[in-house]
Amino acid sequence: MADKLLSRYEELKALVNSHNYRYHVLDAPIISDLEYDRLLNELKKIEMDHPDWITSDSPTQRAGARPADRFEKIRHPAPILSLANAFGGDDARAWLERVKKLDDRVEQAKFVVEPKIDGLSVVLHYRDGLFVQGATRGDGEVGEDITSNLRTVRAIPLRIPVDSKGPKPPKNFVVRGEAFIPNKEFEELNRKLEEAGEKTYLNPRNTAAGSLRQLDPVLTASRPITLLVYQIVFSEGGKIPTSQWEILEYLKALGFPVTDIARRFNDLESAIQYTETFNEGRDALPYEADGMVIKIDDLNLAADLGFVGKDPRGAIAFKFPAREVTTTLNEIGVAVGRTGVLTPYAMLEPVEIGGVVVERATLHNFDFIAEKDIRVGDRVLIKRAGEVIPYVIGPVLDARTGKEKTYKPSTKCPACGQPVEHFEGEVAWYCVNAACPAQLVRNIEHFVSRGAMDIVGLGIKIVEQLIESGLVKDVADLFTLKKSQLLELEGFAEKKAENLLASIEQAKGQSLNRLIVALGIHGVGEVMAGDLSRTFGNLSALSKTSVEELQQIEGVGPNIAESIVDWFAQPANQKLLKKLKAVGLWPEMKKDEKKKDGAFTGLTFVVTGTLPTLSRDGVKEFIEGNGGKVTDSVSKKTSYLVLGENPGSKFEKAQSLGVKILDEAGLKKLAK
Ligand code: IVH
Repeated sequence: MADKLLSRYEELKALVNSHNYRYHVLDAPIISDLEYDRLLNELKKIEMDHPDWITSDSPTQRAGARPADRFEKIRHPAPILSLANAFGGDDARAWLERVKKLDDRVEQAKFVVEPKIDGLSVVLHYRDGLFVQGATRGDGEVGEDITSNLRTVRAIPLRIPVDSKGPKPPKNFVVRGEAFIPNKEFEELNRKLEEAGEKTYLNPRNTAAGSLRQLDPVLTASRPITLLVYQIVFSEGGKIPTSQWEILEYLKALGFPVTDIARRFNDLESAIQYTETFNEGRDALPYEADGMVIKIDDLNLAADLGFVGKDPRGAIAFKFPAREVTTTLNEIGVAVGRTGVLTPYAMLEPVEIGGVVVERATLHNFDFIAEKDIRVGDRVLIKRAGEVIPYVIGPVLDARTGKEKTYKPSTKCPACGQPVEHFEGEVAWYCVNAACPAQLVRNIEHFVSRGAMDIVGLGIKIVEQLIESGLVKDVADLFTLKKSQLLELEGFAEKKAENLLASIEQAKGQSLNRLIVALGIHGVGEVMAGDLSRTFGNLSALSKTSVEELQQIEGVGPNIAESIVDWFAQPANQKLLKKLKAVGLWPEMKKDEKKKDGAFTGLTFVVTGTLPTLSRDGVKEFIEGNGGKVTDSVSKKTSYLVLGENPGSKFEKAQSLGVKILDEAGLKKLAK
């Protein structure tokens, strides 16, 4: 029985690793996310029962290590070399002439062209096919041990060959690759950070390097880092190919991610020609590349050619012209994001960078402008890389004339003119006007969403239609819509209009908690909305409260208290409240409608992962029904973490803070 389970366990490890490889390396999954989760859950279940079976190549071992105090040093088994640069075809030709003089075989040499990705060079160690250690390049002799961080990178195989039919690697095997964040993922990451009011990253390279060189693997795991492998640094106890082209094929067969744009050529001219096409078509690459590498294919010949300092003679970095230029910053504009975040941008004297005329570049946030002392009228250095939005690197101080003006951010939202707000601990400034036109689509989407007013049938398309037609200027306008107006909109027939009006009407019966959530006050989620409803009973009372009074409520700190008071102080929001009252959306809650007392009174719970029987809402109801409280993030004040399958980083955090952990059964027992 145990034997059978053990072999199922081995099978599951191989299966999950192989699907992982298909997804992250080949970009060609053959099962759905759901099926993948099922396999992973089965595997985790076995590991819970048999922790002694767990091996380092189990896919569950990718994230989970504790933060380190510092990185250990690792001596590389062979020097991790650099490359000499060539700036254009003539430089490359001169390189070949030089090496031809050193060795006759160069005359017949073939060349491999690969992308030179701008990321972080990493060195991966395998013993008997198992990933055992990973390091940064460091000074080329000694690097830093970042094994726990690299484990979280899904594209790195934990065991090779990934496919059992693949070749068996040498006993000791060390490869090198470039770790990076693809441009699209970088933009997505920044978009999320911006929405959360957090500091955005300046560029993909620094983000990848920073994420791999910080001490908490849980953070690394949350960054979309991937890699491409291109070199065997060391091997012992097995044969490896002797040409670069075959090395790439071999690495691929082992299950490593390898570039698919590498090509082999019989002469340098063709290699240069191919390289040039990428200079022109750089934007099509999904990552930042600062050039292409041209390598002599015959690795024995390349090794015999030796080095100049740290640069091997057998290869050359064909650099693309840098996409950095200086231009004048004419003015600083401010964009309002859908969540109300204000992002400053530079309006530039138009300038061409790599075939594209750039007139605008992001300035990230107001702190950045202050830190770099960027002034209006400055000459500024701009970078454009791949599809990433062009950004300002900083001012050219030598070019200052004294006429530049220090920038003072406006205290008003550029879209609606209402005062802007700043929240403690965040870098962003916000417009918190619920009717700000720049945020209206998003605000209405939030207002009608399931956790808020739960108005069914009001999707984003319809919201956009309602705004465009001028029928809706704030959320209160939804409640005065007429059937005749809806029928004039494209795609609306009798039935659809009637259904929508009916579900809007129904929303008037929603509770005060839900309405408070729906208003979208910064920092106020479901739990707090419940507390506020019970304390104040209606929106008039809440709107008259003070920061001091709010702080009497458990869980309300000074920041949230201030955010609530500020929200109600905004004239635009007061106007909105009047309108809501006028349309009959004014729920009350009896103030004495006390929270139910029960076994969990005074206890705070955080839930992570999927529970066997209770849904997200179900477990919340269960806890609150027993007088407990559910919050989103783990802190020292958390009484219990309720742990399900596939937990997130909350699990780590709870462990590190020593928070007690329960499963669903344990939770139910506790209630008795
Ligand atoms: S080959 C002998 N190939 O570029 C091998 N390097 O300036 C020397 N890089 O530090 C390196 N992509 O981090 C090589 N396909 C590629 C590369 C590559 C990126 C980086 C690498 C190195 C730097 C050289």
